[in-house]
Amino acid sequence: MQDIFEMKLLPLGDAVKGLVWQWINDRDVCKGILRNIPTSEDENNEWFRNCFKNNNQIHMVINVNETPIGIVALRHIDWVSRVGELMIFIGDETNRGNGLGTKALKMFIKYCFEQLNMHKIFLTMGEDNVIAGRLYAKLGFIEEGLFRDAFYQDGKYINVVKMGLKRE
Ligand SMILES: CC(C)(COP(=O)(O)OP(=O)(O)OC[C@H]1O[C@@H](n2cnc3c(N)ncnc32)[C@H](O)[C@@H]1OP(=O)(O)O)[C@@H](O)C(=O)NCCC(=O)NCCS
Repeated sequence: MQDIFEMKLLPLGDAVKGLVWQWINDRDVCKGILRNIPTSEDENNEWFRNCFKNNNQIHMVINVNETPIGIVALRHIDWVSRVGELMIFIGDETNRGNGLGTKALKMFIKYCFEQLNMHKIFLTMGEDNVIAGRLYAKLGFIEEGLFRDAFYQDGKYINVVKMGLKRE
């Protein structure tokens, strides 16, 4: 895709609290990040409060042309082993499938390795998440494990895949 937009990753702040609450209850986002329980506004507010206190997670807002469109994060960071778990979503369906996830993730991976000095990034995804699977494989993530029937979604069990990317 042509670079006809300007993308920035900005630190999470209260300004996007309402948007994040909306996104986190979006059906495709829930499905993608393996959540099956809706989030109340109070829980979302509590999550924001805790987010700023916790040193083991970094959430960035994906901004395109100054508009927030999603979240990319490294969570459960082990600062000794320098390993963390990746999470990404584009909140609104209309912004998906346009190369924005790819661009945001490339920027975030570079940040994790070159600024945070991470050694490895890992992630968990549903085996049926074709788009995420393509995205991660394209950026060099390797499948490291398959957990059979590890998540119940839409009336059936799905297999959960663990993937990892080591710093070169
Ligand atoms: C996963 C997600 C972040 C990807 O971001 P995106 O901007 O939609 O993806 P991109 O447009 O960058 O495309 C990534 C790859 O998927 C492919 N793809 C995109 N939309 C697709 C579709 N509808 N069907 C099949 N492939 C598709 C793209 O072609 C690209 O692969 P390619 O470069 O080999 O052609 C985004 O779709 C999303 O937020 N999904 C819901 C939450 C989620 O699943 N998060 C991941 C949790 S593990």
